Amino acid sequence: MGHSLVFMPECHSTNDEASRLIQNMNVIDGTVIITNNQIAGRGQRGNTWLSAVGKNLTFSILLKPSFVLVKDQFYLNVAFSLGLADYLKVALKTEVKIKWPNDILIGNKKICGILIENHIHGQHIQHSIVGIGLNVNQEVFATLTATSMSLQRHSGLLLEEVLHDLLGYFETRYLQLRAGQVEALIREYHYSLYWMDENRIFKNQEDIFEGKISGVDASGRLVIITNGLPRHFEVKQIQFLK
Ligand code: BTN
Repeated sequence: MGHSLVFMPECHSTNDEASRLIQNMNVIDGTVIITNNQIAGRGQRGNTWLSAVGKNLTFSILLKPSFVLVKDQFYLNVAFSLGLADYLKVALKTEVKIKWPNDILIGNKKICGILIENHIHGQHIQHSIVGIGLNVNQEVFATLTATSMSLQRHSGLLLEEVLHDLLGYFETRYLQLRAGQVEALIREYHYSLYWMDENRIFKNQEDIFEGKISGVDASGRLVIITNGLPRHFEVKQIQFLK
């Protein structure tokens, strides 16, 4: 990953640029599209992704994971969340959690967001665009629930080095997925899951309830045990309260 790299000083969204590249030419698997200034970054659930100019990593990886079936597409989230967690654990020497489906947290603060957009052909994934927004050197945020690598380490980092090292961790997890080691990936994903096996309060469309996360199901839905019974939720159906 990253052997082919497209740098754009400024763009709307690297995910959108990646999507455009797919349509225009035969791009190399693993191409990275990266920008210094993403002016219309997109997040999950239709949110925007804000990032201070030149301080953080905002990039997308273009992949051709034809070995992943559409019904298994959540495994891409698993592999890339774990790659990020692996890298940050080593770089920051601290505990890193994955808030389902793929927010990366240090303590209760978000350090990285992932937006994966898949192009489907029949039952397989033809192209996958893995968008990463990793807070590296930004130290002031509009929200109290964000953090960065430099805030955690009390020193700045070189963006080129962070990208290079991170891509290595992604590659390892992606190859694990390609080798079919799904059970091991899910086991480790569960191990890193934020609020796993803890009594917590959640909110869905109907009510506020207490429950315990027991993991994700085969299609990537969050499973919460409440009143002794498992309930399965899609991303838009559930909020973590406290
Ligand atoms: C989220 O947590 O909501 C996901 C945020 C993903 C942001 C990245 S930054 C690079 C790529 N391009 C985008 O427009 N979004 C992703």
